[in-house]
Amino acid sequence: MTVLPRTDAMTAGSQSRPVYELSGVAKSYARGNLRALDRVDLTLREGSFSSVIGPSGCGKSTLLKIMAGLIPPSEGGVYLEGTPVTGTREDIGMMFQQATLFPWRTVLENIVLPIEIRDGKAAARAKHRDALALLELVGLKGFEGRWPHELSGGMAQRAAICRMLVTEPAVLLLDEPFSALDELSRDFMNMELQRICMERNATAFLITHSIPEAVILSDTVYVMSPRPGTFVETVEIDLPRPRTLDMMTDAKFGDYVRRIRARLDKGAFL
Ligand SMILES: Nc1ncnc2c1ncn2[C@@H]1O[C@H](COP(=O)(O)OP(=O)(O)OP(=O)(O)O)[C@@H](O)[C@H]1O
Ligand SMILES: [Mg+2]
Repeated sequence: MTVLPRTDAMTAGSQSRPVYELSGVAKSYARGNLRALDRVDLTLREGSFSSVIGPSGCGKSTLLKIMAGLIPPSEGGVYLEGTPVTGTREDIGMMFQQATLFPWRTVLENIVLPIEIRDGKAAARAKHRDALALLELVGLKGFEGRWPHELSGGMAQRAAICRMLVTEPAVLLLDEPFSALDELSRDFMNMELQRICMERNATAFLITHSIPEAVILSDTVYVMSPRPGTFVETVEIDLPRPRTLDMMTDAKFGDYVRRIRARLDKGAFL
């Protein structure tokens, strides 16, 4: 795996190449004849971190599922590295709100599961060394032989991060991955996520209900309208990397939070 430090020029997101593109993506669910998502255009640049924030039920998970190739859009196109996303792909990693580790598999066996499903048991065994390196990366060295019930919530989420990274995806799609954690663990995991993304130059797209979380992690924050969701504001976050939790007390940080909150208050409640 290539480990590239992310430079400030890259974090600004304006000079790196586009890897992921959505044009005119919209979604109506046939069941209930419901328009969940209105026209969304989006470009994610390599190594950038973007977040989307919006009221409950506005179509955020729908958008992420379309981006992951789990459900098709009703209109528009989704492209990764120039090719249409028509189903799940190994260059896309996804993480959900709950860690969903299988209780009958050890931590290590859970992490290599995507490889086992894709390429079989021998290929999964060949990935054990990579999986152990990932466990070390997220601070879980020595926990490879444990069972999921022996882990705390935060540790389980970290194991789920390893499982997402083991296929070396270029794009990470994150649907409120740490919302079940307490505030301290969540702050810690967010800083871990930043470190991992920077070390691997991963392109990340995060759904969150937390404005401070969106601001501290992102190069760009997209604010979504109530359903049918569409981006109503794009906020570029011009804070240096690596971000630290201390920055949350900066006046500039507070300005970004207020600006996003004001935009959300106009449309809906969180
Ligand atoms: N499979 C489905 N069939 C029909 N309607 C659906 C389906 N999935 C979602 N919806 C509807 O689409 C709308 C958007 O749902 P979605 O899960 O994308 O919202 P969300 O922004 O992720 O909400 P939350 O913040 O609460 O997670 C909702 O009104 C929901 O009821
Ligand atoms: Mg959702």
